[in-house]
Amino acid sequence: MIAGFAAGSAVRVRENPTELSIPIRQATKESAVARPQRCFWQRCRSGAADNGLSCLGRHAPKVDWRTAIDAKGRAIMKRIGILTAGGDTPALNAAIHGAVVRANQLRIEIYGLIKGFNCLFNPRVPHVHLNPLFQEIPELDPTKGGTLIGSSRDYIDPTRKEDLDLISARLLKLGIEGLISVGGDGTLNGLQPLAERLPTVLAPKTIDNDLGLNYPSEPDEWIRAKDPGAPHGYRYARTPSSAVFDLNQIVNYATPGYATAVLVTAQGVERIRTTAESHRRIAIIEVMGRHSGYIALGTAYGQPDIILIPEHPLDTELLVERVRHLYDLQKNVVIVCGEGIVDEQGVELGAESTSMDPAGNVALSGAAEALRAKITALLGDRYFQRYRRGSSAREAIFTRKVGHTQRGGRPILFDRFYAALLGSKAVDLLVEGRNNAVSVLQYNAAKGFHVEGYDANRFRDRWGLIHARQMHPALYDPLLMKPSRMGIDYLLPIFTDAIGSDDAEHMRQTLFDPGNLSEPYHSINTDVHKRIRYLEPEGD
Ligand code: F6P
Repeated sequence: MIAGFAAGSAVRVRENPTELSIPIRQATKESAVARPQRCFWQRCRSGAADNGLSCLGRHAPKVDWRTAIDAKGRAIMKRIGILTAGGDTPALNAAIHGAVVRANQLRIEIYGLIKGFNCLFNPRVPHVHLNPLFQEIPELDPTKGGTLIGSSRDYIDPTRKEDLDLISARLLKLGIEGLISVGGDGTLNGLQPLAERLPTVLAPKTIDNDLGLNYPSEPDEWIRAKDPGAPHGYRYARTPSSAVFDLNQIVNYATPGYATAVLVTAQGVERIRTTAESHRRIAIIEVMGRHSGYIALGTAYGQPDIILIPEHPLDTELLVERVRHLYDLQKNVVIVCGEGIVDEQGVELGAESTSMDPAGNVALSGAAEALRAKITALLGDRYFQRYRRGSSAREAIFTRKVGHTQRGGRPILFDRFYAALLGSKAVDLLVEGRNNAVSVLQYNAAKGFHVEGYDANRFRDRWGLIHARQMHPALYDPLLMKPSRMGIDYLLPIFTDAIGSDDAEHMRQTLFDPGNLSEPYHSINTDVHKRIRYLEPEGD
């Protein structure tokens, strides 16, 4: 059980037409930061009596169920589509779950489109009815990582009008009146052209935590210059900011998936530390995040000695000086580096420029190895021989990539709770008649976390491009190479109580289940496959 919380009583939630009785946990002591609403603690998990979200939609339009007309006389949608796009995160099923529960309340059918935008490029449009008779299908488990409807990195090229026309015609044929894309900044870039054809909203997800703005005017700070070698024919750069950075102004404070990724990386640091300590070694741990250092920053919970982020160019001299000091003192050093870190000249240490994903993102790989080569060259073998701690620097310094384990597995409470709220809010945005909009997770000290709708265009620069959010420099202390005071203040609301007691209990009960040894793995794909329907019959 989480410190400060006692198992709770039941409340009746009147917003839900079915007035379900749901369990809650009562706060028994105040914490320094706002926590998720208590009435939701136990419900975003499989097996909960009401499937989770009966208190949602408090501010959504009131609907007359017999006529499917809201209080303003608007016909509400009868069928919407949902897809998950881009790299998976642990909280995708939770976002779908939130959308489905809200759709059930509003008596809207919801179709899951298989494998992201790939589904829409396929004339057969494989899809799954996620709520037949307004009941969520049992395969949809918000505590399970990944996405039961599959994902892909296929994306919509806004310049290909014929593709867009085909896609919207297919959606129309399927009876889809509005589309929810669960995705990141790449998906949001493709949203506008689709939104010109049918109501489209985005529910955010990404472990990188790079979908959002440090402050609302941030998109206006971008400038660009022609560069035939750059991905879109232009090189983009930032002008100095004239905004005062304030945590309360952040747009989309955290994205679902980020907290679970940090759990994995922080645990990784803790585990590597004991090896580094025992064998007097220097460990360099590479974490994901592309060009944003949020995952690296959050990994501070695992207490690495040094954190290097992509937003701050490497100061090799300072780094080696710090490594020497720490190694002399404690005979081991643990360094965390974001995969997108850059050298003094701004060159990415881990860029393999030959490899790009379909959305044009450079595949980053090898930052830790490149860093190891730099430190090895500067410390030299004699440094380690003198201490009798290995015969060479190469032997003493080792690297580990946390890799895709950051993206997978069971989402922790923070992620699944807010993913579900954001999915639910996306349905409300469609029903309210919003188009080209994003459900965002806002935070301020007075209100705690809450979800809002935000116009997608407010994320765009003046040429219409959405840039991945980079961590604000104020969150990092480049001398200490750790989170700054403000960085700590940023992390606290997300991570204090981010782990539910059931998260720990789940591991205790399932990992060493004797049945795991004899039973083969049963993939969700096997079950979902049986539910897939097609727009057109398979050709010969
Ligand atoms: O955007 C999420 C992310 O996990 C990044 O942190 C990482 O660079 C990338 O995706 C890896 O992509 P892939 O799974 O295609 O290798």
